[in-house]
Amino acid sequence: MNFADIDRDTLCIDPNDIEHRIGPRTKAIVPVHYAGHPADMDPIMEIADRHNIKVIEDVSHAHGALYKGRMVGTIGHIACMSMMAGKSFAIGEAGMMVTNDHRLYERCISFGHYERTGVATTYNTADSQVTANELLEFADDARPVGDESIAEDAHQLFALCRENRVNHLIYAGFAINWCLLLSPGGMADMSKHGIMCSAPRQAVTAVENKETARSELCKELGLWRVAVAFGYVFDVDDFINALGAR
Ligand SMILES: Cc1ncc(COP(=O)(O)O)c(C=O)c1O
Repeated sequence: MNFADIDRDTLCIDPNDIEHRIGPRTKAIVPVHYAGHPADMDPIMEIADRHNIKVIEDVSHAHGALYKGRMVGTIGHIACMSMMAGKSFAIGEAGMMVTNDHRLYERCISFGHYERTGVATTYNTADSQVTANELLEFADDARPVGDESIAEDAHQLFALCRENRVNHLIYAGFAINWCLLLSPGGMADMSKHGIMCSAPRQAVTAVENKETARSELCKELGLWRVAVAFGYVFDVDDFINALGAR
């Protein structure tokens, strides 16, 4: 990592001190928009383009600031913003990444979820009691049609996804339950493989297990946990609208 000097007036990175610090291993320029002041993005983007490297804006100190009328964080290839307690836009302990580049977005999602599931695995006690045959007992209306493949474990499901160029799995009609989430091919397994996972809110039938799924509150809590740990929970209406828009 090479540090460039700052501009005396803005206290942000000085564009004139960047270029001579770029070497063959340089991957990105990371300007911090400091104390609500935008870094001078035009020359920074121009340098990055010329060297074919990325720009990662750090918006942690300047949420909502404008650069030539444009919101900071929308100019570089990616922007990151801390929202921990001491920041101007503080929501406790959190952060956010924004990008227009879908590939970068997918990669960030998979890095973000890397090894997160290790903790949840300790809840996965029931999983080992389920045999492959039990997993293959489908309800009549859920049986595979024609030559549709069945994946018996996470590796097979991942292979199927690759074969069919699927990078986003939507889990429907299942109980939110740590055991199911972590079953072979569950959300936790698949997000480890870098596949995005999500579930429609209305298709989720229980929380943790049937016995504890007593109230809507319980369900909301379970959905929140799933969204934070593995991917997204969305409303069916939003999903159908999004499909219609394609
Ligand atoms: C400019 C800047 N970027 C990033 C961070 C990291 O934030 P977090 O601790 O929320 O990951 C900080 C934290 O102080 C910061 O000041």
